[in-house]
Amino acid sequence: MNAKTHWEKVYTTKEPEAVSWYRAHLETSLALIERAAHSRSASVIDIGAGESTLVDDLLATGYENITVLDVSQTAVDVTKKRLGLLAKKIDWIIGDITQVQLEPFAYDVWHDRAVFHFLTSAAKRSAYVGKVMKAVKPGGHVIVSTFGPEGPTKCSGLEVMRYDAESLHEEFGQRFRLVESSKELHETPFGTTQQFLYCYCRVGMSP
Ligand SMILES: C[S@@+](CC[C@H](N)C(=O)[O-])C[C@H]1O[C@@H](n2cnc3c(N)ncnc32)[C@H](O)[C@@H]1O
Repeated sequence: MNAKTHWEKVYTTKEPEAVSWYRAHLETSLALIERAAHSRSASVIDIGAGESTLVDDLLATGYENITVLDVSQTAVDVTKKRLGLLAKKIDWIIGDITQVQLEPFAYDVWHDRAVFHFLTSAAKRSAYVGKVMKAVKPGGHVIVSTFGPEGPTKCSGLEVMRYDAESLHEEFGQRFRLVESSKELHETPFGTTQQFLYCYCRVGMSP
């Protein structure tokens, strides 16, 4: 089953609050984005946003230049419906992040919570990093959150990778400077906990 088929099935069969990664608000992500990009005109892309409320919170905080990308049309439709008229303010992209064409050097901030860890093949991880390098402005900010070293080995029935700050940084390479990292215990809607890692890097100035 390819990524699209898998995720469309997830989002057509589960309510937004009934998935393990659900949080009412992605507070850690929002705080990191606000720290990285003070200017509300900064262009922010949320990779694999799913049905998360990060886009609502970015709009409420005043960000004016937001792109939401996900492989699932269903997830994007749910988010658009929730936002109502505000959905018009967002650029929407449906696509697989390892394959999609993104505008070169278009984004100040790249955010991904719980997508990169699904890339279990080196080729897909390398394709993902290639997209970051092309799409993020030199000097831009990259915030990636994955399962931590003590996180689950599977999510949504799929095998996942687990990272500490060093191993995640290694995937991205020398052009990325690690600014900070932290771990978070995420409480799932089922009362269990999952360890997440957040890494915030900056991209080097020369492409
Ligand atoms: C675990 S969910 C996380 C959703 C959201 N980021 C959050 O934290 O609530 C993973 C999301 O990534 C999307 N996704 C998975 N693989 C993808 C890919 N290759 N390209 C784009 N989106 C992908 C899924 O559709 C899903 O919405």
